[in-house]
Amino acid sequence: MNGSALLLDRDTQDDRTDFRDAVLAGLSARPRAIPAKFLYDARGSALFDAICDLPEYYPTRTETGILRACAGEVATLSGPGCALVEFGSGSSVKSRLLLEAMDRLVAYVPIDISRQHLDQTAARLRRDYPGLNVEPVCADYMALERLPDEVSAARRRIGFFPGSTIGNLTPGEATAFLKRVRRLLGTRGALVLGVDLRKDPRRLHDAYNDAAGVTAEFTLNLLRRMNRELDANFDLSGFAHEAFYNPVEGRIEIYVRSLRTQAVTVAGRTFTLAEGERIHTEYSYKYDEAGIRALAASADFRIGRFWSDAERLFAVVYLEAPDDRP
Ligand code: AVJ
Repeated sequence: MNGSALLLDRDTQDDRTDFRDAVLAGLSARPRAIPAKFLYDARGSALFDAICDLPEYYPTRTETGILRACAGEVATLSGPGCALVEFGSGSSVKSRLLLEAMDRLVAYVPIDISRQHLDQTAARLRRDYPGLNVEPVCADYMALERLPDEVSAARRRIGFFPGSTIGNLTPGEATAFLKRVRRLLGTRGALVLGVDLRKDPRRLHDAYNDAAGVTAEFTLNLLRRMNRELDANFDLSGFAHEAFYNPVEGRIEIYVRSLRTQAVTVAGRTFTLAEGERIHTEYSYKYDEAGIRALAASADFRIGRFWSDAERLFAVVYLEAPDDRP
């Protein structure tokens, strides 16, 4: 993709090295844990897309419905001549709702760690919106320090972080992330944030334990990815997906559980897992309105608008940075 502003031109080798280092550190730690971002290789991303279509997985369709209803208001609140900056753009389906509603966007900046995803997304958007200035950034948005220069021409920077991806972060990490975002978005910046809400634990449990077993495949794909990329020898029949709601912490916890005592080799190192021992793969924090308000305040944002669906399953919030702070 020549001519596109890629701040960090990552490649497959960088990805592989990051993955190996994180896996070896994570399997050596107690409790054992591997960061959730590594679930999204090509197969993992395809499985996640399948999760989004599951009858039990309400977040995607609920959020899309909310965005359809509130996109016009987002455009009004933001005003003309903004840059739209999306954190972890994936396939950018939801962003289209904002792209189509917003007035005279100066730039659309999708940020994604997957070069392949990003190139594909940018090419599709350039084809479908010939007048739109697409400025992709290939980077880990958790570590991004600056935005392309083209963004400076914008009146305001509007961030977009949908999907309740923020739920993967612990509250402390979420605060740190939002502070970084506020700095990146600058004076008069705003963030459109999607957050999954607390609800009947049964409903939450089912969303991460679907009858078709797609979520289990998604979790166990992490083992397949290690087998493929790190020369590991996980026997998939010896492991199970485990997901449950922890009501005290207000989060879904997801693990790979070892069904027997077994040794595995990963990138030349051997680890012994006891029967019943778990490798943590994901948290998915759920918030209530007060929790979202507190989270926003912890990063010096305030809630400008709060939108939800009739069942109060999911929220989209418009967070504003105070005028006087950079
Ligand atoms: C993409 C992090 C929002 O937590 O619901 C879905 C990931 N994992 N099913 C979520 C996920 C298993 C998803 N997020």
